[in-house]
Amino acid sequence: MIAADVTALPPGDSPDLILVPATPEERIASLKLNSVAWAGPLDLKTYIAREDHLFSQRLTRDGLTCWILVDRTQPEGQRTILSSCESYRKKALLAHDGQVEDVATHGIGSVYCRPEFRGKGYAKRMLEELSRHLDTWKMEKEPRKRALFTILFSDIGKHFYAQFGWRAFMSSHMGLKPIADGSHTNGVPGSAQIRDLFAEDVHTHICSDKVLTQLRDQMRAESQKRPGAKIAITPDFDHFVWHWAREEFFSETMLPDHAPPVIKGACDDQARVYCAWNRVFGDDPSANVLYILRWVYDDPTSPQEEEVIVHAMAAILRRAQREAQEWNLRSVEFWNPTPLLQKAAALLDPDVQLVHREKSSISSLRWTGAEQGLGKDVEWWLNEKYTWC
Ligand SMILES: CC(C)(COP(=O)(O)OP(=O)(O)OC[C@H]1O[C@@H](n2cnc3c(N)ncnc32)[C@H](O)[C@@H]1OP(=O)(O)O)[C@@H](O)C(=O)NCCC(=O)NCCS
Repeated sequence: MIAADVTALPPGDSPDLILVPATPEERIASLKLNSVAWAGPLDLKTYIAREDHLFSQRLTRDGLTCWILVDRTQPEGQRTILSSCESYRKKALLAHDGQVEDVATHGIGSVYCRPEFRGKGYAKRMLEELSRHLDTWKMEKEPRKRALFTILFSDIGKHFYAQFGWRAFMSSHMGLKPIADGSHTNGVPGSAQIRDLFAEDVHTHICSDKVLTQLRDQMRAESQKRPGAKIAITPDFDHFVWHWAREEFFSETMLPDHAPPVIKGACDDQARVYCAWNRVFGDDPSANVLYILRWVYDDPTSPQEEEVIVHAMAAILRRAQREAQEWNLRSVEFWNPTPLLQKAAALLDPDVQLVHREKSSISSLRWTGAEQGLGKDVEWWLNEKYTWC
């Protein structure tokens, strides 16, 4: 129910408040409420259609739950939505003591309280309840029967979610300006070898069993060398498809005259450097960004190999800059770049800066592994844009 008498609202710490999964009607009602914040250039009908489209993707079809904070004394179908959010079940990897386990986790998104209800402690109550629910929610089939951690990406700084246990992790990025398709090589050595990647290529080169096995091996080896748990969101194809569903929906509805966004990344096969990307269309064109979702490459074993990889990265980034230009995007951005990526970016723009975000998209993780004997600290591997939800 959307309408409510604001003067008769219960306090945020009322024992009558309860967090429940929304009914399908309540999910639509909460989308109508939060459209004020997140519909951007989409009208309400199109925004709901976009959310339904995302909901129907493999990543979210069975794993997405829309949660609402309500008063338990109100009957279902007539209860006032005090606050809402979503959780997405995701596959993850956990490495500790020389072992790797396939585990499950939840990502949290769309945390919302309508403006006239703010400041009453509803979001606080919702997140306190949510953190408890998610420890065991949809974990019946998991060997440990519980989640060891959950993640979210805060757009309101590092403190709000920290009070409920979600600790801010490294949240940096580099950005490069779009560039016009000038010369054949655009002045970057190795550009001639760059190949565009389509969705199936990303499946083959970025999400294959081989790549995942390599990741498991690396995590296992590191966990033998260094104590402490290490986790990663499994970079499976479903994640990429879910991100692309958003850009494809936008381009179909808002840019019908543009050819569809079928180029999903670029690679250098010889150097074995691969990247997948996604176009994000914001509230207005100044917020449009080509995000690199994930990089895959082997660690170099010699300075010569390093040079080859860095040049390949630079050439791929140059290709991304051209794609950003083609789609009228403001920049190409990649999260938490490794030293090699930073070198590659500096080849293209000697003034490029590593930006440490303080407010938006703060990668945050709530770890409960200590209760399972896994130590109080955790390392987040592959803290890249593909994990965002
Ligand atoms: C952020 C939001 C959910 C907070 O809802 P709310 O019900 O007003 O929050 P609460 O009343 O439960 O606040 C709990 C505490 O967090 C603090 N807080 C609230 N909003 C905050 C914000 N935007 N940034 C930092 N702290 C905030 C409050 O001051 C309060 O602190 P206190 O307990 O010391 O008094 C709400 O403002 C909202 O929907 N904003 C728009 C959508 C959005 O930005 N969502 C977050 C996406 S990551």
